[in-house]
Amino acid sequence: MGSMLAAILSDKPFSASRNFFISALFWLLIGTTVGLIASLQFTAPDALSGVAQLSFGRIRPVHINTILVGWLSMGYVSCYFYLLPVLTKRNGLWSEWLGNLTCAAWNVTLLLGVLAIANGNTEGREYAELALTLNVFGYELQLADWLVLVALLLLAFNCFMTVATGQEKKWYVSLWYMMGSLFWFPFVWIIGNRAFVQLDGLNDAIAGWFYGHNILGMWFTTGGVGIMYYLVPRFSGNPLYSHTLSMIGFWTIAMFYAPTGTHHILQSPVPEWLKAVAVIASVFLLVPVLTVLVNFFMTMKGKWGTVSDHIALRFAVAGGFGYLFTCMQGPFQATRFINWYLHFSQWVVGHAHMALLATFSFFVFACSYYMIPRILKRKMFSRELAIWHFWLSLLGWIIMMITLTIAGLVQAAGWHFAVPFDQWVIELVPYWLLRSFSGVLIVGGQILYAYNMYKTIFNGDECEPLPESKTGALYV
Ligand code: HEM
Repeated sequence: MGSMLAAILSDKPFSASRNFFISALFWLLIGTTVGLIASLQFTAPDALSGVAQLSFGRIRPVHINTILVGWLSMGYVSCYFYLLPVLTKRNGLWSEWLGNLTCAAWNVTLLLGVLAIANGNTEGREYAELALTLNVFGYELQLADWLVLVALLLLAFNCFMTVATGQEKKWYVSLWYMMGSLFWFPFVWIIGNRAFVQLDGLNDAIAGWFYGHNILGMWFTTGGVGIMYYLVPRFSGNPLYSHTLSMIGFWTIAMFYAPTGTHHILQSPVPEWLKAVAVIASVFLLVPVLTVLVNFFMTMKGKWGTVSDHIALRFAVAGGFGYLFTCMQGPFQATRFINWYLHFSQWVVGHAHMALLATFSFFVFACSYYMIPRILKRKMFSRELAIWHFWLSLLGWIIMMITLTIAGLVQAAGWHFAVPFDQWVIELVPYWLLRSFSGVLIVGGQILYAYNMYKTIFNGDECEPLPESKTGALYV
């Protein structure tokens, strides 16, 4: 017990990064499995009837919160806790102990929060469902909102102190993106959660979707791009193609992302000017997106031949293409007519998985295969398992994407051409079965990933400190 507590609250350099990563892996397994169970309910809606905790309305937000707050956010933090000291020339964080405390608090909050959701206590806003509602002297306290905010502030404080006390005073572009995310996210959280902002009717929906889209834009996008700006030059051995372009991207993301949230509610009676601003800003997002993509792909120039040898680079490049497709699809479906046609269909769910699975999760996979051997000074347990992880995740996602896109088109046609619901819903069954099959592949891939990482972290062969090799191919 004592040694476990010591490990959890360790002050060893990079221990917080390791602990955040182990937690992220745990939530990845839970989150993807819950997603798979949710997907099975589309074709077998009565299979779990009678167990309220497993009803679709509850396990959908459990899936989303375990995946977004558990896997992806904790995965990002583990990458930050590795990259920030490296970029500022420090041996570990300003306070590893505080980082580990934040990790423990994050896990406890999320665990209680998802148990509460499963038991019917939810805030009811998409991506902000965590509630833990308590009645304190007649006042309704949304405990989870406060706990997450405290965790975010501790996280930001630790990261800013790490940068402030580092030897390297010049900020490489990744630092801008990571520090920007840490600065913006607490504000976005405050606006999106009922403990802090409660409005009526449509105003509440506008605030909710300001949050809903900016958790993607000012946290997952900026964080993921920051991580990739470090990895791509590292993996390719080429210098970053253009620092100026990367900074144009940073400031234009900050400018254009904020007002896009209303594109989620274009079919509601929110003011027309707000809809117009949201649609225009969504299309203008192509500017930062192009800066990122041009930079990624130009930095890779002459090094495409190394992609097949280098597993971490494979994930990075596949994630880069995921980003390209997501960001082409996003502005397209934000335009008024296309949005009217596709809204309330499975197309949108396909888009969400393209962004959060095929892009940002792939970025974390890439970073983890690079970072974990370096933190622990150990070789990856198995290169074969890493290759299996790549193909199962990629293939699973491609099948999921194709089936949800077609299902979305069929569903949209059903809505708009007034085909009776019971007729078109039957047409979707084969696609939903295929989506569950894709889920089996993805969950299988994540089990192999978790096993490979578990063996590396707990049983891996120690080796000499790993040099920062130009391609990193040696280690994965
Ligand atoms: C890292 C992996 C994953 C990520 C990041 C992820 C993310 C998400 C997100 C953000 C949503 C909400 C979509 C929306 O708001 O429209 C969602 C919904 C969903 N996901 Fe996942 N997911 C992952 C893996 C999986 C897997 C493996 C399955 C299994 C098939 C799955 C099945 C579902 C289902 C059934 C829904 C609800 C769809 C609906 O309401 O129609 N997800 N997921």
